[in-house]
Amino acid sequence: MGRRVRVRAPATVSNLNCGFDVLGFALNEPYDIVEVELTRSRSVEIEAITGCETLSTDPGKNVVGAVLTALSSAAGRESGFRVRIEKGIKPGSGIGSSAASSAAAALAGNLLLDNIFSVSELVRFAMAGERLASGTAHADNVAPALYGGITLVRSYEPLDIVQLHVPGALFCVIIHPEMEIRTSVARSLLDPHVPLATAVRQWGNVGGLVAGFYREDYNLISRSLEDFVAEPKRAALIPGFRELKESAIKSGALGAGISGSGPSVFALCRGAAAAGAVLKSMQEVMMTAGLEFKAYLSPVSLRGAETC
Ligand code: HSE
Repeated sequence: MGRRVRVRAPATVSNLNCGFDVLGFALNEPYDIVEVELTRSRSVEIEAITGCETLSTDPGKNVVGAVLTALSSAAGRESGFRVRIEKGIKPGSGIGSSAASSAAAALAGNLLLDNIFSVSELVRFAMAGERLASGTAHADNVAPALYGGITLVRSYEPLDIVQLHVPGALFCVIIHPEMEIRTSVARSLLDPHVPLATAVRQWGNVGGLVAGFYREDYNLISRSLEDFVAEPKRAALIPGFRELKESAIKSGALGAGISGSGPSVFALCRGAAAAGAVLKSMQEVMMTAGLEFKAYLSPVSLRGAETC
């Protein structure tokens, strides 16, 4: 049996309303675990996937296969990998399911190849998984899944990831309606052209949100949690979205919106007690509407992918 590592990588919230494709943060849970063993076969073999019946074990169709193939070809090594995947995050949930598996695979593969790549290079490999999953190699989920905390993709070409300050009292509530939205479908709804006046409002909020994190100014964070680009096009995909958002804000959230491409809805809160109250009110909305859902409450986590 070859050397083997086991890595867990967390769910992530991306966009944070104003930062489409550039902002994201890590949660404590849920998470995926990827176990990788070095083999002499020169290929990637996915031996088992637990926790999800819909994902393919064909390495050409699974994000883990895409990431490990990209990693080993960049390393120029003739090594292969045998993989077991434990899915804790449902695909199509909007909380970075493909990103968590991709990030865990990138870290695990790198550990087995004696750590030859930096974390920012691992982001690139993990992006190969995102390209396979959604058709676009976006980094706003894989970056926080690898680094933990809050990250900003300052630039894609060249790739420039900036780790941002995480205010200590930031908590997040996630309501995941029991349905799947394919990121590729949610992206196809977006207008490739944003009017200048809309762009001005949006980038004002991105700057405001980043400044709010550094100043730990919760009021500024709250004012900046607006989205004039993606939310207007995507909200209709999510049953109960308006009611969820309204009830989160009424019960004390700093702001709320679509997590990634949905259907999960996130609410950012100041402190665990406030998050508890917001969770309760959002759960009530879902129960009153008779909608099935999962709920999570987590601090914005400093922990990214790590061995377990
Ligand atoms: N930024 C991406 C999007 C995240 O909103 O399409 C997808 O999870």
